[in-house]
Amino acid sequence: MAQENELLNEAWNLLNKSIVNFNGKPVGTVAAQDKELDHLNYDQVFVRDFTVSAFAFMLNGETEIVKNFLELTLKLHTTEERLNWLKAPLGSMPASFKVESENGKEKIIADYGEHAIARVTPVDSSLWWLWLLRTYVRVTNDSDFARKPDFQKGIRLILKLCLTARFDMFPTLLVPDGSFMIDRRMEVHGYPLEIQVLFYIGLITAKELLIPNEENEKYINAVDERLGHLIHHLREYYWLDLDRLNEIYRYKVEEFGKTASNKFNIYPDSIPQVLLDWLPEGAGFFLGNLSPGRIDFRFFTAGNMYSIFTSLASNDQSKSILNTIDGAWDRFVGFMPLKVCIYALEGEAWRLSTGADRKNIPWSYHNAGSWPFLIWTLTAASIRIGREDLAIKAIEVLEKRISKDNWREYYDGKNNRFKGKEARQFQTWTIAGYILAKTLLKYPEKLSLISIDENIDVVPQEVKY
Ligand code: GLC
Repeated sequence: MAQENELLNEAWNLLNKSIVNFNGKPVGTVAAQDKELDHLNYDQVFVRDFTVSAFAFMLNGETEIVKNFLELTLKLHTTEERLNWLKAPLGSMPASFKVESENGKEKIIADYGEHAIARVTPVDSSLWWLWLLRTYVRVTNDSDFARKPDFQKGIRLILKLCLTARFDMFPTLLVPDGSFMIDRRMEVHGYPLEIQVLFYIGLITAKELLIPNEENEKYINAVDERLGHLIHHLREYYWLDLDRLNEIYRYKVEEFGKTASNKFNIYPDSIPQVLLDWLPEGAGFFLGNLSPGRIDFRFFTAGNMYSIFTSLASNDQSKSILNTIDGAWDRFVGFMPLKVCIYALEGEAWRLSTGADRKNIPWSYHNAGSWPFLIWTLTAASIRIGREDLAIKAIEVLEKRISKDNWREYYDGKNNRFKGKEARQFQTWTIAGYILAKTLLKYPEKLSLISIDENIDVVPQEVKY
């Protein structure tokens, strides 16, 4: 117990040290405090990374930093003059920002993807912002905060960006490669699961926070309609278990029109052998991606975990998802929780899909490396369906090495035995993820501040493809 408390104290000290101030007020946390490796942009506040810090702060009664962050980033996605030649649309939010001093005056420099490696678009940032706003309102009970005209406008701008009709017929959100936590080329373009779950959460948030008035009416209606279709599409077509796999295995192809059962023309031969090799009995999960003629059969952990405690997955589905982790424990947890995805792209698939990316070699980094920050997502999911035993077991594994290894960003290897080749030390979301997991285990009732109730008032609606 004493040792456990020591670890938690160490984590809190590090998290507090990572705080960034702007004009004397705390507005975020840096991504990492690693003095050894080159910095790249790890000295910036990443919206997605900060969300984990923010949840950890809020569930421990610290709300001021989140309020400041929400106000600052609101300006970053609603003001015209923020942009250079790139003209990122209103409603889009930076991946990260930093505070710089010029002639004794502080200013914010934001990166909407125009500086990021490979110039990737952070689609997830705006969706994280919505989830944070919802949580802030629930924690503080200050619903007036989100009802202010500038916040209402901020919500509408994000919706406008997500709901505008494009050359696309699916209810899911079409995004370019590397648009979320996996911010590199990894065959995650199109309709990756994590973005779809965040989109679902974002739409629920908008439904809850938009004031029903004339200005908002058309947005609220659009949200209702899209949510119904999105939920149906994800639950129906993204779900994979043994029954469904058998169905796909025997699919007829080249079917035309309304009666087609293989609507997306998936060829059975595209089922990868590696999936069959690792898929445990009783497993089930939401697929990584789905588009015309293509299923990504990888298990992406974050999206699957979020789906459990936000009620996208039914109770039975949630159990199957956790069975999948339980049944392949040595891979998912091994020496350090938790694999970002299973399985790795190897050989020619790695070369073609990642562009021969040396940082994403098989079983490393995004390509099936292990990311300790994900511990909070497993903890939240386990609490939701009464499998705390899994979270407790995984946290014990993490506690053995995390401090000794200086709170690494990620781990490599099939069983997560190696410190990630280029993993930063003192990575903030590793630290915050641990604090958040411990907080949730100690006060499971607090999960309801982040999660979405099972009784969401949305009727799933089939799209007539
Ligand atoms: C890397 C990760 C990204 C994270 C960032 C800051 O770019 O791929 O997900 O937000 O580092 O930690």
